[in-house]
Amino acid sequence: MALDALVRLQKVSKVFPGGIVGLDSVDLDIAPGEFLTLLGPSGCGKTTSLRVIAGFESPTGGNVLLDGRDITGLRPFDRPVNTVFQDYALFPHMDVAANVGFGLSLRKLTGAEQAKRVREALDMVGLADKLGARISELSGGQRQRVALARAIVCEPRVLLLDEPLSALDAHLREQMQIELKRLQSRLGTTFVMVTHDQTEALSISDRIVVMNKGRIEQTAAPATLYDRPATRFVASFIGTMNLLQSRFVGRDGERLRFAAGDLPLEATSDSGETPAAGDTRTIGVRPEDLLAAGEAAEGTAPARVSGVVFHGRTLRLHAELGEGTPIVIDAPRRADGSQFSVGDMAHVSLRRGANCPMLSS
Ligand SMILES: Nc1ncnc2c1ncn2[C@@H]1O[C@H](COP(=O)(O)OP(=O)(O)O)[C@@H](O)[C@H]1O
Ligand SMILES: [Mg+2]
Repeated sequence: MALDALVRLQKVSKVFPGGIVGLDSVDLDIAPGEFLTLLGPSGCGKTTSLRVIAGFESPTGGNVLLDGRDITGLRPFDRPVNTVFQDYALFPHMDVAANVGFGLSLRKLTGAEQAKRVREALDMVGLADKLGARISELSGGQRQRVALARAIVCEPRVLLLDEPLSALDAHLREQMQIELKRLQSRLGTTFVMVTHDQTEALSISDRIVVMNKGRIEQTAAPATLYDRPATRFVASFIGTMNLLQSRFVGRDGERLRFAAGDLPLEATSDSGETPAAGDTRTIGVRPEDLLAAGEAAEGTAPARVSGVVFHGRTLRLHAELGEGTPIVIDAPRRADGSQFSVGDMAHVSLRRGANCPMLSS
């Protein structure tokens, strides 16, 4: 195995009674100290992955390794792993200190040592003044922090977080994303977080694992996933992407030239594959990589505007290319206030230097 993997999932499968597939032969290396996020739609296997790493679920196939050691058969409490559950799972009748200290009570520590560790953990999450408060007196954000403190007080090697911010409102959520990332850097602990929110995953993670139907579609850094999605699924899950059926025209050095109807496109191939002349491929084109002009010119294709959505600095144009192919374009708002309206013809072209991925299905 790669020497730098802290956790390794080796062909891990989980088939539940009744034949429901939770995980389908998942291979994944998690590096020490990284903030890794499992991202994907509901039911794709994110929680099951966490539960397998924590030991709450035993895989029906494959192995879980920690530091190169097989821990597949180890009980949850014997693993240096803690979990922050989606619903926090706090004890409402106990105060904050007792909740945070709960994990420590299974260890052989003196009362004074326990109290010190609890204070330090609460300090880390900015709740030092809430030591004696009851859980019922706390806001949603404060409860979230208590759950975090309870997990970090045990100083785990790996902290698992299942949709930790999903119960918070949008503003608090963004603030907690920043705090979570900061906490992770300070602790240097490996965080494995689950979310179905791509914006959250992109803003917080060192690497993202995109999952679909119990399998991994792609694992990469946020910018790589955004710029060079490998599959149609990843391309359509991360941000907005036009998926254009395009005909291969020819090659210019590294650039592969395609045409989506009348619209000339340029793509890069991560696999190094060159299609045969006339082959069709799906090319992913970001709305911000398209230009819409009022006049036709060399390299533009006409598209009828069918919708205009205000996005602040830009307008999102929904349009149809000649063959009825829908296309989405982000156009800057013009200073003079003139803009496209429904029914207008927009002359669409690819921005120079745009990096369009050639996608596999
Ligand atoms: N205990 C279980 N028994 C039966 N099926 C389960 C169980 N837990 C999860 N599943 C199924 O496994 C799949 C993956 O679930 P899960 O990992 O919870 O998805 P996610 O967290 O990505 O939403 C889903 O189809 C789910 O219904
Ligand atoms: Mg889940």
